[in-house]
Order: sequence, then structure tokens, then C-alpha cells
Amino acid sequence: MAILDIIYYPDKRLRTIAKPVKKVDDDIKKLVDDMFETMYVAPGIGLAATQVNVHKQVIVIDVSEHKDQPLCLINPVIIAEEGSESSDEGCLSVPEIYETVQRAAKVTVKAMDQNGDEFTLQADEMLAVCIQHEMDHLVGKLFVDYLSPLKLQRLKKRLLKNMREEQRALG
Ligand code: NI
Repeated sequence: MAILDIIYYPDKRLRTIAKPVKKVDDDIKKLVDDMFETMYVAPGIGLAATQVNVHKQVIVIDVSEHKDQPLCLINPVIIAEEGSESSDEGCLSVPEIYETVQRAAKVTVKAMDQNGDEFTLQADEMLAVCIQHEMDHLVGKLFVDYLSPLKLQRLKKRLLKNMREEQRALG
């Protein structure tokens, strides 16, 4: 397994639209393994292939407390959704930024697992949020896109400040 490089906002490659996986072959299985490792090390609760600059419809998630419930979604499609809820979200590609986003409260998603087997999953709470957040990555969308122009402006200032502080720490 290998830890992959995560790309950061506002990198334009995060705007790439991922292509469906035609066949779950050894390359895809390796990608999934590497993505899990990268996500656990980061640490994060979800990672989309887009974030490691692979533009295929592959997502890994683990929202469990003990990080022992890995969930892989290949070519995910939301087939039903219900209600709406707001929660604070963060993203490995937008470090140290947390903002409230409104999403469907419950989703039913159809996808393939790491073995290429199809399954349907009903999700609510954090898992529902995470699935929607990661699926957005696959169409080049980021959680910050939901923010008002004013909030986005503030966020950009904060990001710039974080970057400067990092440079100072390195220098
Ligand atoms: Ni994200």
C-alpha cells in the first residue's frame, strides 16, 4: 500500500469530473487500498479519488469511531433522498476550514464495492453527509461552493493567512 498525495483547494484539478469505472480490476483494487491508507493516515472520514488526482468514480469512507468499518463506493448513484439537515463539514483538500452545509438528511445510494459487487445502502446522519460530500468531489464540487460570497471571501483570507503562517514556520 502507499500513501497518496492529496491535492488542495484552490487547485483546479479538484474541478475535474471523474469517469465511471468500467471494470473493478487489480489497478482499481490497489487504488482503493491506497485511498483507505491515505484517508486513515490523514486522518479523515472520507476521501474521493479526485482528491488524489485520479479522476475515476471511487470513494472510500469510514465514519466509525474505531476506524473499523471501511466502506468503498465505486460508481455511486443516489437513487433516493429525504429531508434536509445542516451540519459542519471539513475536507482534507481544504485543511482547517469547517463550515455549515445543508444536505439531504437521508440518502439511498447504489454502488459497487471493492470486489465489483453491486449493493444498495441507506444512510443517515454523518454517513449520509459524508456520501454526499464525497460524491460532490467526483463532479468537481467542493463544500465551500455552498457558502455565500461573503463567507467564501472570509475563507479565502483565512486560507491565505494559514499559508503564510506555514511558510513562516518553514522559513
Ligand atoms: Ni472533501
